[in-house]
Amino acid sequence: MKMIVARDYEELSKKAADKIVQVIENKPNAVLGLATGSTPVGMYKQLVAYNKDKLVDFSYVTTFNLDEYLGIPAEHPQSYQYFMKDNLFNHINIDQSKTHVPNGMAEDIELECKTYDEMIRAHGGIDIQVLGIGNNGHIGFNEPDDELIVGTHVTSLTQDTIKANARFFDSMDEVPTKAITMGLGDIMKAKEIILIASGEAKADIISKLLAGKIDTQVPASLLQVHPNVTVIVDEVAAKLIK
Ligand code: PGA
Repeated sequence: MKMIVARDYEELSKKAADKIVQVIENKPNAVLGLATGSTPVGMYKQLVAYNKDKLVDFSYVTTFNLDEYLGIPAEHPQSYQYFMKDNLFNHINIDQSKTHVPNGMAEDIELECKTYDEMIRAHGGIDIQVLGIGNNGHIGFNEPDDELIVGTHVTSLTQDTIKANARFFDSMDEVPTKAITMGLGDIMKAKEIILIASGEAKADIISKLLAGKIDTQVPASLLQVHPNVTVIVDEVAAKLIK
């Protein structure tokens, strides 16, 4: 695992965006694995700016997002489909038919999960996967548990995660309790992974992530056995690393 400690959120966002640009430079039809949440917002802003300045071309790029809430339609302002259009896809020269977010409204959810994994495989796998990390160590919506699931699946969100997501909804009742997420196998098959984390609240989990042990109660700890992971954090998130 490589570790980059950036001065602040702005530098972290730029370093993460630069990694993506590098991958697209080497392979114009790269397959990107993308994440939502507040952490990648700055990275997406940087990518939009690079695209405006013609420093990166997304026209041959394909994307697969990690996850989506179950039962929230794509047009809902809190859906991850909406987030991706709003933060990235509507502002860059990507062919939107090449962007994929799991469909949380699919009639046959099992089929949706299976098809999602098949599509990733058919595109030759993910060249670079972007990950945030939950305070509880989740990646995508792979929550702490006794067992972790390999492929795309439906998952129940933990109370911690529901609480963390509540800031985006008007009331607790509206916060989704289930999601579709890529599994640990999908993530671990990516050729390269960048995990980004910023701020005080992530300091504890970042130190656990590097503990030298794999613990299914800290799903991100599995990344320690991937051959090409870069963890990009700001100084505050790095402060408990020994
Ligand atoms: P955040 O979420 O970027 O909003 O902190 C990260 C995550 O839960 O994966």
